[in-house]
Amino acid sequence: MGKKINSIKLSKTQFYGFGVASFEEAVELREAGVLGNILVLSGLFTYNKNIDNLLRKYSLVPVVYSLEVLKKINQSSLRNKKTVSFHLKLNTGMNRLGISKEQLKEAVSIIKNNRYLKVTGMMSHLSASEKKHSNITKKQIQLFQHFVQFFKDEGINPEYVHIENSHGLKNNLFHQGNLKRVGLHLYGLGTGTKMKPVGHWYSTIFSTYKIKRGETVGYGPSFKAKRNMKIAILGVGYADGYKRSFSNKAFVVVKGTACPVIGTISMDLTAIDVSMVKRVSVGDKAWLIGGPYKKYMSADRLAEISDTIPWEVLTSISSRVPRKFIHD
Ligand SMILES: Cc1ncc(COP(=O)(O)O)c(C=O)c1O
Repeated sequence: MGKKINSIKLSKTQFYGFGVASFEEAVELREAGVLGNILVLSGLFTYNKNIDNLLRKYSLVPVVYSLEVLKKINQSSLRNKKTVSFHLKLNTGMNRLGISKEQLKEAVSIIKNNRYLKVTGMMSHLSASEKKHSNITKKQIQLFQHFVQFFKDEGINPEYVHIENSHGLKNNLFHQGNLKRVGLHLYGLGTGTKMKPVGHWYSTIFSTYKIKRGETVGYGPSFKAKRNMKIAILGVGYADGYKRSFSNKAFVVVKGTACPVIGTISMDLTAIDVSMVKRVSVGDKAWLIGGPYKKYMSADRLAEISDTIPWEVLTSISSRVPRKFIHD
């Protein structure tokens, strides 16, 4: 729920480092004071030929996820006469990024012919790690081991070998790996675990008033009151990442009471039913995710009601939502 400051704290603990999606995210972390390894998982091909200078400047570890990227890094490292250490991504069936079986020989030949190229890690990504016993996973693991062995036989021995994400780790799908790329579980989320969510999100009540039976609320209108009720308007909307698809389905918690979201969530505002809350007033907190009460809404549950996944719920919380870090 806010990568920068959390990352600084995590970077002081003992672990390999961070994985980020882009070069820009990596630079943001470095400039915020994050130490340790930062693995840039994708997006490198779009950069100009000086990318390895930039990677070196910020001490970043690129993931080489295609022959094109390998060739680019090969050329620039020869030109600069500087070592580039990287993790090589192998495609074992996800069919998203990674060197394919047919490209292994060419990759080996490029790496062996350039002393500046140093493979420090080999990785792949599981497509069905939520399931403990999946034939797809079995096949991916087998291929991965086979591919890694292929490189080892050619004298290319990576220090790190990794394929597990959160569910992969939970289901112990590749205990041989010595690095785990955990995302969701860092937030205490994911079904079938005993973890507690670590993030909370609240909004504030901007106004309250009473509506009569038969009156409607918001756009559409998608909500019509079946009884006289007390409603409150929150200063949060889909532009903050409080998704329109939560409309008329989610609840928020005010003073320990679950209050249903009513009507269609607008860009900046959301209406809730506070009929059951005693002495509710402007400025009160409305907990959208987590909070200090027994009753709470989780990102997992929000994902369920809006037909998505908790990753999307969390990454949708927009940058205009202020982040506050309260624990060391
Ligand atoms: C390559 C890669 N590794 C690791 C992860 C982390 O996955 P999870 O959040 O399921 O732990 C992701 C997530 O998108 C990913 O794309």
